[in-house]
Amino acid sequence: MIFLKTDEEIELLRENNHLVAMTLAEVGRHIRAGVSTAELDKIGDEFIRDHGAVPAFLGYDGYPASLCISVNEHVVHGIPSAKQILKDGDIVSVDCGTFMKGFVGDSAYTFAVGEVGEEVRRLMDVTKEALCRGVAQAKAGNRVGDISAAVQNYAESFGYGVVRELEGHGLGRRMHEDPGVPNYGARGRGPLLKEGMVICIEPMITMGNKAIVFEQDGWTVRTRDRKPAAHFEKAVAIRKNGPDVLTDYDIIEQAILK
Ligand code: MF3
Ligand code: CO
Repeated sequence: MIFLKTDEEIELLRENNHLVAMTLAEVGRHIRAGVSTAELDKIGDEFIRDHGAVPAFLGYDGYPASLCISVNEHVVHGIPSAKQILKDGDIVSVDCGTFMKGFVGDSAYTFAVGEVGEEVRRLMDVTKEALCRGVAQAKAGNRVGDISAAVQNYAESFGYGVVRELEGHGLGRRMHEDPGVPNYGARGRGPLLKEGMVICIEPMITMGNKAIVFEQDGWTVRTRDRKPAAHFEKAVAIRKNGPDVLTDYDIIEQAILK
C-alpha cells in the first residue's frame, strides 16, 4: 500500500532528510586514512541524538549500529567495526537513517578517502549521476520504471553492473514503504507516480559483475568478484511541478571540500 503524504508530512520528511545530510557531512569531515568505521558510526550516532532524533537503523531487523558503512567491495549494509581502518584510495558508502517527529530520513553518499584512482573516481561520479537521472524522472504521471530505466541505462552505458537484489523504496512513517524502486527496469512500467508520494532512489553500481554475496555477519553485502561498488541515495517527494529533492548533497559537498 502506497501512502500519499500531505505538505505538512513532506516537511517533516524534509527535516529528517536534512538532518541525515547534516550527519553525512559531519561524518564526511572525519573520513581520512587511519580512522575506523566504528569511530565514524559513533560520530554519526551522537550527531543524530544531539539534534533530537534517534538513529533509524539501530535495531532495525536487529541491525547493530547507527550507520551502514560499506568500504570498496562492500556494496551496502556494512557493519561499522573498530577493526576496519580506512586507508588512502578507499571508497566508503555511508548510509544514514533518522527518526523524529514520527517520520524517517534515509540517504547515503559515497566518499573518497584521500586520493582515489581514476577508475574508482569515475565509478563514484557515474553512480551519483545515475541517481540524478533517476531523480529527474520522479514526477507525477511517470511510472517507477521510468526512474529504474534511467538509472540502469546510464550506469550500463559505462559497462558497470546494476545490483538487482536490493532497491529503493517509499519513505514515510516507516523506512521501507511501497513502492519498491528497482535500479533496473523498463520505461512506462511499474506503479504510477502520484503527487504526495515520497521515495528513496538508491543506485548500487558495481565496477565489475553485478553479482553480490552476503558476508558471514548476516548484513554486509559485497560484490562476488570483489571489485568496488558505489552507492548514493536521496529521498524525493513527487510534486505537481516535478521532483522535490529532500536530501541536499550541497551540505555534504561543502563539508568535504574544506
Ligand atoms: N538505507 C537502507 C535502505 O534503504 C537501510 C539500512 S538497513 C538497516 O534499505 F537495517 F540498517 F537499517
Ligand atoms: Co534506503
